[in-house]
Amino acid sequence: MEPSFWHQKWESKQIGFHQDQVNPFLVKYWASVKADPRQSVFVPLCGKSLDMCYLAEQGHRVIGCELNLTAVKDFFVENQLSYQTHQHGEHTVLEDDTISLYQGDIFTLPPEATQHIGSFYDRAALIAWPDDLRQQYAAKLAQLIPAGTSGLLVTLDYPQAELNGPPFAVSPQWIEQYLATHFDVELLTCEDVLAENPRFVNKQVSWLNEAVYRLTRK
Ligand SMILES: C[S@@+](CC[C@H](N)C(=O)[O-])C[C@H]1O[C@@H](n2cnc3c(N)ncnc32)[C@H](O)[C@@H]1O
Repeated sequence: MEPSFWHQKWESKQIGFHQDQVNPFLVKYWASVKADPRQSVFVPLCGKSLDMCYLAEQGHRVIGCELNLTAVKDFFVENQLSYQTHQHGEHTVLEDDTISLYQGDIFTLPPEATQHIGSFYDRAALIAWPDDLRQQYAAKLAQLIPAGTSGLLVTLDYPQAELNGPPFAVSPQWIEQYLATHFDVELLTCEDVLAENPRFVNKQVSWLNEAVYRLTRK
């Protein structure tokens, strides 16, 4: 996906991926990461997700990375948080006392931005990429996550031939092939979520699974 694709989505407010509630899988499974609340959590491709508010409420400092400036500004404004801005290399950082959002391309995010994190959370980030870019993203994520660090990954899987992404289908086999080289992978749950996703029902997609994995960087 070209950056222009996502900028256009934000400009035209076609952000069906954004959830008005904290993700229920995050609430249910975050404890299984055993993340030290005194340490930061990294949220790649964070959008303006309310999941970052939940993570901050658990005591974490949150470090997000998001391409689109409107998304990042909206996050602070819509949650009534005041923020300051500074430049870090080619990224603009918008932050308050507990949340720092790096606005810019994740592929140029310097490893020092995440070197002190204690955990990470990927919802709708891995599945935002088509296959070739997804492999590059997986390699970048592995570069940004220090050894021994655990996090949650939330994915969708469905017959890709029946619908164009994003979100793109990510199968357990893909995870095994491309993530297991960098991460220990544990499947926490896999649920049939077709009935709750009208877009997939309307397009007659035959099945849709949402899965949650715990990943630990090797
Ligand atoms: C499917 S959305 C998911 C957002 C968020 N994780 C959520 O759950 O609402 C993917 C996000 O990734 C952002 N994005 C796309 N390419 C990016 C890149 N190269 N670097 C940083 N963010 C990017 C998009 O602007 C978009 O907000």
